[in-house]
Amino acid sequence: MRLVVCDVSIGAWTADYLVAQIRAFRPDGDRPFVLGLPTGSTPLEMYQHLVKAYCSGEISFEHVVTFNLDEYVGLAQDHDQSYHTYMAREFFSQVNLRPENTYLLDGEATNLVAECQRYEADIAARGGLTLCVGGVGEAGHIAFNEAGADFGDRTHVQRLDPSTRRANARFFGHDPEQVPALALTMGIGTIFAAQEVLILAQGARKSQAVYQAIAGEVTPLWPVSVLQQHPKAMLVCDRAAAEKLSIQDDDLTNNREK
Ligand code: GLP
Repeated sequence: MRLVVCDVSIGAWTADYLVAQIRAFRPDGDRPFVLGLPTGSTPLEMYQHLVKAYCSGEISFEHVVTFNLDEYVGLAQDHDQSYHTYMAREFFSQVNLRPENTYLLDGEATNLVAECQRYEADIAARGGLTLCVGGVGEAGHIAFNEAGADFGDRTHVQRLDPSTRRANARFFGHDPEQVPALALTMGIGTIFAAQEVLILAQGARKSQAVYQAIAGEVTPLWPVSVLQQHPKAMLVCDRAAAEKLSIQDDDLTNNREK
C-alpha cells in the first residue's frame, strides 16, 4: 500500500489526484469513470477542491458515475444528517454530475436486503468501481464495516458499534442514542473489488488506525488493514495521523510521500 503524508491539506492533494486520474481515463458515455465516495468530516476539503477544479474548468463530471459508500438506516433522505443531504450540499449541487449518475443507498427502503442487492447490481451494471475513496474510523472501520468484518462481505445491513455511534454523536446533538443503530454499507469485498482504493485519514485520533493499516497485521479486527493486500491502494494522511509511524523528516521530502 502506498502511503502519502501531506504537510498541507490532504483534501487538496486528493482532489488534484482525482482530477488527474479522471482526465487521464478520458471517460465518455460508454466508458464512465466510476467513483466510490465517502462522507464524514475528513473528505469535506476534498469536495471543496473538486468543486473549485470544476468551476475553473479543470475537470468535468459529465461522464463520472458515483456510488456512495454508506447511508444510515431510518433517517429520511432530507434529514440534515443523512448522507443524501451531505452529498447534495457538499458536492452534487455544485458540479455537473448527472442525477442519474449518482447512486446512494436508500436507508428508508422497506426491504433493506433487497436494497443492498440492488446496489451491488447497479455497481456491476456500471462496470465496477474504477476508484473508491474512503475515510477511516478511529477503530479502523472503512465505510461502516466495523471490527470483525468479513473481508468477502458485499453491500449489507450493518449494526453500528457503540464506539462508532459515540464518534458520530457530534452530528446528532452529542447524544449517541440519536445516532441510528443500523446502516447500509458497501462491504469490504465491494470496496476491495475497486481497481484502486484511496483512504483518507486526518488528525491524531486516526493515528492508531493508520498504524494498523500500514504496519499492523492484516486482521478483520482492523478492517482497513485488508488494503495491504490490494494491488493498488493508497493511504493519504496528514502528519498527525501518521505520528505513530516512524517516518523521518528526510523521508517526507519529494511531495511528502514515502
Ligand atoms: C463514518 C462514516 C465513514 C467515515 C468515518 C470517519 O463512520 N460512515 O465512512 O469514514 O465516519 O469519519 P470522519 O471523517 O468524520 O472522521
